[in-house]
Amino acid sequence: MGLKSVLFVCVMVAAMGAPLMVVEAQLGSIGSLLSLTRIQGTVFCTANGNIGTNGTATPAFPNAAVQLQCGNGNVVSTATTNSAGVFSILLDPLQLLLSSLTSNCSVVVNTPLSSCNATLPSVGNLVSALNLVGMTFQGLLRITNIIPTGFMFQPST
Ligand SMILES: *[C@@H]1O[C@H](CO)[C@@H](O)[C@H](O)[C@H]1NC(C)=O
Ligand SMILES: *[C@@H]1O[C@H](CO)[C@@H](O)[C@H](O)[C@H]1NC(C)=O
Ligand SMILES: *[C@@H]1O[C@H](CO)[C@@H](O)[C@H](O)[C@H]1NC(C)=O
Repeated sequence: MGLKSVLFVCVMVAAMGAPLMVVEAQLGSIGSLLSLTRIQGTVFCTANGNIGTNGTATPAFPNAAVQLQCGNGNVVSTATTNSAGVFSILLDPLQLLLSSLTSNCSVVVNTPLSSCNATLPSVGNLVSALNLVGMTFQGLLRITNIIPTGFMFQPST
């Protein structure tokens, strides 16, 4: 690298680094508030929505509408599974207490199973309770990770 490119890199690093440090300093003072709750899981295209005996060869359930429901079917948040059947719901921890998430809420798949496999039912839902698996940190962000305990097929709602 020539001297000019080295200087350019230094200037770029300085230009990008300075605002970052300011942001970090500002965030640092409210660091304990930087937390998110993430509900993440995979829906499979099987009669009960769970991974089959063929393990990773089990087909996923893509484009499935997933709802976070609390209490009496109150929809708190929604998500859609990607091509690998994975959905992710991010929540502000102030929105819902962790204890009520695991005691009072469930994830419900509203797209009929028949949409991923025509031999599966066209009515009914997959439903799962939720479980806390732990915390992960991404820089200053603390993420509380919640996963479905396992889906069950609920014939009709
Ligand atoms: C497992 O894989 C085999 C071979 O591909 C297939 O014949 C069988 O139907 C699969 N079983 C399930 C439960 O998906
Ligand atoms: C359960 O959820 C309902 C609806 O969101 C709410 O009104 C109720 O207070 C919750 N109960 C508990 C114990 O969190
Ligand atoms: C569709 O579901 C049936 C019944 O569970 C299963 O035997 C079949 O292998 C599935 N087909 C595909 C393409 O996954």
